[in-house]
Parts: sequence; structure tokens; C-alpha cells
Amino acid sequence: MTSPILVTGGTGTLGSIVVPLLRASGAPVRVLTRHPGGRGGADGVEYAAGDLVADTGIEQAVQGAATVLHLAGGPKGDEEATRNLMRAAGRAGVGHVVHISVIGADRVPLAWFRSQEGAEQAVAGSGLPWTILRAAQFHDLTLAAVRKMAALPVVPVPGGLRFQPVDAREVGERLVELAQAEPAGRVPDLAGPRVYGMDELVRGYLSARGTRRPLMPVRLPGKAGRAYRAGENLALGAGTTTGKRTWEEFLAERVR
Ligand SMILES: NC(=O)c1ccc[n+]([C@@H]2O[C@H](COP(=O)([O-])OP(=O)(O)OC[C@H]3O[C@@H](n4cnc5c(N)ncnc54)[C@H](OP(=O)(O)O)[C@@H]3O)[C@@H](O)[C@H]2O)c1
Repeated sequence: MTSPILVTGGTGTLGSIVVPLLRASGAPVRVLTRHPGGRGGADGVEYAAGDLVADTGIEQAVQGAATVLHLAGGPKGDEEATRNLMRAAGRAGVGHVVHISVIGADRVPLAWFRSQEGAEQAVAGSGLPWTILRAAQFHDLTLAAVRKMAALPVVPVPGGLRFQPVDAREVGERLVELAQAEPAGRVPDLAGPRVYGMDELVRGYLSARGTRRPLMPVRLPGKAGRAYRAGENLALGAGTTTGKRTWEEFLAERVR
């Protein structure tokens, strides 16, 4: 029997795209999750209980996996979680680790970005063959943020902030391709087809909803504000691939 691909984060936004694509390609898939519940069986996916931060269940989950697609992530602890995963993967002799990271991991001075950089280093320094794809913010996350902002009577919009939101489906497709290819190290970043100001993202959302709100420009203070205004979260120029699906197309599908 072919060895399974272990997908961490297989239950998340990205994982829910990646897992069916892998299954459609005929690959046996195992998902590591903290909440296996009654899952498993019907969709042909095996679920392994484990927590990457608490370092439980990882040894069993990686057992026999030829490839690990590491998509799990949370607000805190991603570096430690990745170190725990890589230690177990090393012991199990995994042949290829594919990891999703974020554009600007080494440039945006915020704790979450630093932990993404730490996670990348854990993968690259593990001694196992690896591939890392850095992606821009997904449309889904952008929508969640813009929705919260637009719920206020006056929408505070940090000036000078730009984003290149990318479709999670395009990121998922690319990851499946990478997981089924040879280890490639850092591959070109994947961003969306257009750069938008925060105000444009909010206006696009309001217009898709058919509502209006006054926008109030605010200034994001500190080092993080400076880094964002300098575009450190963007992928511009060489070493970037861009997706096709725009923010407007995503909104037309998701927002009424
Ligand atoms: N969202 C973005 O815009 C964006 C952009 C670039 C890169 N990324 C990266 O892409 C990855 C996936 O993002 P997403 O939006 O799909 O995330 P998501 O929807 O929030 O899903 C997070 C996933 O991580 C798993 N997870 C969290 N903590 C865990 C732990 N301690 N142990 C085991 N599993 C754990 C969750 O599994 P269970 O709850 O089932 O345990 C869930 O499947 C993340 O690593 C993120 O950093 C995201």
C-alpha cells in the first residue's frame, strides 16, 4: 500500500481545500487534529488525534508517512509546534516536509510573523528534505477582518496599508502540486493578482453588501506600522507568482 500523506491543519480553511484535492489524486491521506471526534471513514481520510503545541500524538501521526504537509497554525506557538513536528518526523524518517508560511515572515516586526519565521527555520534546519511556500493573506481572512471593521458605524482604516489577498483554493492547488513533486526548498511566493489599499478592500466589501459607511483614516503606530507602510508584507517583483482570482470575484461569490 502507498504511504499516506500526513496533513496537519487538514481541518482548517486551507486544509479543507487540500485534503479533497489529495484524495481526488488518489493519495491516501491522514489528518492530524486536536478534535478527531467521530470523523473518519466516510471521506476516505484517516484522522489521528494530536496536539502539536502540547506535543501529544505526533509520533503516531507521522508513523509511516512519506510526506508531511504542514498547514496547522494558530495565533500562538507555531514555532514550538513546528519544532515538535519536525522532531517526530525526523525520527520517523519522513521523506518530504511541505510547509506553508506567510509573505513577510522575516520582515514584519510582529510576534506572529516572527513565529512564522521560527517555524520556517525549524523546517529548513531539520535535516529532512523540505519545501516552503510563503503565501499572502487569504481572501477568507481578509473578509473576516473587513467584516469586523465594517460592523462599526464609522470604519477606522489604517492609511498606507496594502495587501495582496490570494485565494486559498489557488494556494491549496499549489501545495498539492508541491507535495507531489520533489523537495524544492523555498519556492516563489504566491500572492493575489492585485495590490489593494485597506480602504479599497473595505469599500469593495461594502459595495458587495450594498451598504455604505463612512471611513475614518487612522495611523498604525510603531515599527509594525512602518513595516506595513513600506510594503514588507507584499510580494513584488522577482520570486513571486500571482494567483488569478481577485478580491472582487471572491466577494461576488461569498457576500450578498
Ligand atoms: N489565513 C491566511 O491568510 C494565511 C496566509 C498565509 C499563511 N497561512 C498559514 O496557513 C496555515 C493554515 O491557515 P488556515 O487559514 O487554514 O488556518 P485555520 O483555518 O485557522 O486552521 C488552523 C488549523 O490548524 C490546526 N491546529 C491549530 N493548532 C493546532 C495544534 N496545537 N495542534 C494541531 N493542529 C492545530 C487546526 O486543527 P484542529 O482545530 O482540527 O486541531 C486547524 O486545522 C497556517 O499555518 C497559517 O499560518 C495563512
